[in-house]
Amino acid sequence: MSVAALVLAAGRGERLGADLPKAFVPLAGKPLLLHTLAALARVDEISRVVPVLAARDLERFAALGAALASIPKLAPPVVGGRERQDSMRAGLAALAPEFSLVAVHDAARPFVRPDDVRRVIAAARSVGAALLAVPVTDTIKRVRDARVVETPPRDECWAAQTPQVFRVDLLREALAKATSAGVVATDDVQLVERLGLAVAVVEGHPGNLKITRAQDLALAEARLAAGEESGR
Ligand code: C5P
Repeated sequence: MSVAALVLAAGRGERLGADLPKAFVPLAGKPLLLHTLAALARVDEISRVVPVLAARDLERFAALGAALASIPKLAPPVVGGRERQDSMRAGLAALAPEFSLVAVHDAARPFVRPDDVRRVIAAARSVGAALLAVPVTDTIKRVRDARVVETPPRDECWAAQTPQVFRVDLLREALAKATSAGVVATDDVQLVERLGLAVAVVEGHPGNLKITRAQDLALAEARLAAGEESGR
């Protein structure tokens, strides 16, 4: 079963408060997106890495030139959509039929470890869908209108990360059903869960940070300056 990776980078990234689109914000002197693409290209099981970009960023991406040529397995960029789900749909539509598994990953997670990616791919091969997640350390409250609705048992709460890996046919079906039901999800496996199908949880690493706010970027810079590599 050949595996392709979709790297979703078409979001606005407004919470970062930077002048550049988030995917192009420099991290240790190199755009965030390049760190993430390179991290996935390092995984032997993945044979194609597909960036999904906003149309407005295509020129900026092409201008990276030689830096792109140094990333193996890189496919031409695909134009994403308004919601994350639209970007995923665009990426899926561009996949060649040889790929039967797809790993969907946030461009904003440059520190994902190849070993963790391998483990979640293996789980998806046997179950059909799998994600990386970490047990939460804080107690989680479900809140509406500034009032606590519910406190789920902490030992059952995990924070979802990416990659989330799927059999391509399963994800296509889940996406089509969500679209016709008008469901918009913040995370991809949710689309499979709502069909009542099994999703395997693979324990990841808390270091697989999603760079969202300015302080995340500062932390990422500090980790790289201390010698940690993205994707190790
Ligand atoms: O907004 P959020 O932090 O959940 O976005 C996660 C990832 O999904 C980001 O890497 C972002 O670029 C991507 N995304 C996308 N298309 C959108 C919205 C988000 O590719 N329309």
